[in-house]
Amino acid sequence: MHAWLRGSLIAATVLATAAAGAAGFGLYRAEYKLDRRVEVPARAVAVPTGSAAVDRGRYLFTTRGCAECHGADAAGRFFIDDGGLRVRAPNISPGAGTVVANYRTEDWVRTLRHGVKPDGRPVFIMPSEDYSRWTDADAGALIAYMRQMPPAPGGGMVAELPLPVRLAYGLGVLKDAAEKIDHQLPPPAPVPEGVNVAHGAYVAQTCVGCHGAGLGGGKIPGAPPAWPAAANLTPGAGSVMPRYADAETFAAMMRSGRRPDGSAISTEMPFSAFSAMSDVDLQAMHLYLQSAPPRAFGER
Ligand code: HEC
Ligand code: HEC
Repeated sequence: MHAWLRGSLIAATVLATAAAGAAGFGLYRAEYKLDRRVEVPARAVAVPTGSAAVDRGRYLFTTRGCAECHGADAAGRFFIDDGGLRVRAPNISPGAGTVVANYRTEDWVRTLRHGVKPDGRPVFIMPSEDYSRWTDADAGALIAYMRQMPPAPGGGMVAELPLPVRLAYGLGVLKDAAEKIDHQLPPPAPVPEGVNVAHGAYVAQTCVGCHGAGLGGGKIPGAPPAWPAAANLTPGAGSVMPRYADAETFAAMMRSGRRPDGSAISTEMPFSAFSAMSDVDLQAMHLYLQSAPPRAFGER
C-alpha cells in the first residue's frame, strides 16, 4: 500500500475511534446528568385560599404555557412528536398515582423555581427557567389553583429523545433548567402590576426558554431541526420589533398568530397560551421590549 494512503487510513481510523469515543462519552454523561441530584434551598410559600388567588393561578396556568404542555385539565399530553423527538408532559392533576400526588408546597416551589423534582433529579425538558423568578404570590396562586383542580386520568412523562439531542445534552451544548437557573437568588420582590417596564420584564420571563435569556432569538437548542429560529425581540440588529411599533399591533399578533401583513407565524410559538394574556400583560411587555438591552439576532 502506498505510504501516503496508509497514513490517511490510519488517520481516518484514529478519527473514527475518537468520534465513537466522544459519542460514548456524551451518552454516558447524558445518563449521569439526568440522574444527578441537585441540592437547592427548598422553601415553602404561603398558599392563599379564595377565588381571587385561584383565578390568578388559572390565568398563570393558561397563559404561561403549563396548559399548552400538560393540557388544560393538567392530565398530561404529548406536546412534541417530531423528528424522533416524542415527549409527553406528565399528569399533574390531583389524585392518586400522579407525579404530584404527594407534592408538598415546597415540592411545587422546587419544581417551578429550580427545575428540580422532589427526589433531587432535574427536570429535563420543562422550561423552569421561565418560572424561576415568579413572586411568592404568583407561585402560591398557581399552587392554590392546581390543588382545587378535579383529578383527571392520564399517565406519566414519556421522553423519547433522538441520539443527537442526548449527545448535545451530555456534552453540555444543551442545558437543563437547573443548569441555567441561579439557585442562590432570593425570591424576587413584587413589582406593581400595570403598563410599566418592570411588569413587562416580569411577564417577558415566559419567553426566555425559547428566545434566550437576553431575548436575542436564534436557533432553539434541542428543538427539532424543522423549527424556525426564534426571533430577536430586543431593539438590536435583525430585530422583528420594528414590525410592532405600537402596542396594539403587538397585541394583535400575540392574539392571532399573524404578522401585520397577514402571514402566519409558526405555531411552535405557543399562541394558544399567549392569546389569553391580558391587555395589561401584553402592553407592559411591549413597553419593556422597546427598552430591553439590544442584542444582535442569535445572541441569545
Ligand atoms: C414545554 C413544555 C412544558 C411546560 C411549558 C411546562 N411543563 Fe411541566 N413538565 C414538562 C415535562 C416534559 C415534564 C417532565 C419532567 C422533565 O421535563 O423531564 C414536566 C414536569 C412537571 C411536573 C412534575 C415534576 C416531577 O416531580 O416529576 C410539574 C409539577 C410540572 N411540570 C408543572 C408545570 C407547571 C405548573 C407549569 C407552568 C408554570 C409547567 N409545568 C410548564 C413539560 C412542560
Ligand atoms: C416554545 C417556544 C417559544 C416561546 C415560549 C415563545 N416564542 Fe416567540 N417565537 C418562537 C419561534 C420558533 C418563532 C419564529 C416563528 C417564525 O419564524 O415563524 C417566534 C417568533 C416570535 C416573534 C416574531 C413574529 C414575527 O413577526 O415573525 C415575536 C414577536 C415573538 N416570537 C414574541 C414572543 C414573546 C413576547 C414571547 C413570550 C411571551 C414568546 N415569543 C415566547 C418560539 C417561541
